[in-house]
Amino acid sequence: MIEVDDSTYQELNQEIITCVKCRLSVGRTHAVPGEGPVPARVLLVGEAPGEREDELGRPFVGRAGVILTELLSSIGLSRDDVYITSIIKCRPPKNRDPKDDETAACSPYLDRQIALLRPSVIVSMGRLSTREMCHRFGIREGRISDMHGRVFTGQTPYGLIYIIPVYHPAVITHNPNLRPALSDDFLRLRELLDTILV
Ligand code: URA
Repeated sequence: MIEVDDSTYQELNQEIITCVKCRLSVGRTHAVPGEGPVPARVLLVGEAPGEREDELGRPFVGRAGVILTELLSSIGLSRDDVYITSIIKCRPPKNRDPKDDETAACSPYLDRQIALLRPSVIVSMGRLSTREMCHRFGIREGRISDMHGRVFTGQTPYGLIYIIPVYHPAVITHNPNLRPALSDDFLRLRELLDTILV
């Protein structure tokens, strides 16, 4: 496992929680840098904190978080096994989609997290997160309904990584019909982890 300078990780988190680079800093209670092991074999990337995450400063602790924890457990993982973060670290008002300039302001934090955590697998949860990963890793962008559950590769300064888009866990709160597809996405993640044995 690659050693990571822990002070750098702490410094990055400190920068995120005190960030004022975009308008979302004005309305937040807490920024949500993310949590999990450092380094991390698997990095899960959601879209943006919601109400509960903003209250507590922790990722995926609301309704979507309950679903995510269940999905992880269904493939033999716990939250402690993976690093969980989002594209945007502060809650957009009324959970609207992040604006392009907000994503642009926040995205260097995710780049630095990837460099520090050195994941072998990035799980992009949802349409916006998948779009961001496509831009980052030069993957041809498609609809989430076409890309979910498929494995893509990307290059980083430390080597090849795998990117697997999945439906966002919250999708089944609006569309319960997608539950089997969401569960299958996590089974594909399990298969990928078993295949690459890292
Ligand atoms: N949805 C996300 O995408 N991220 C969170 O942290 C919570 C809900």
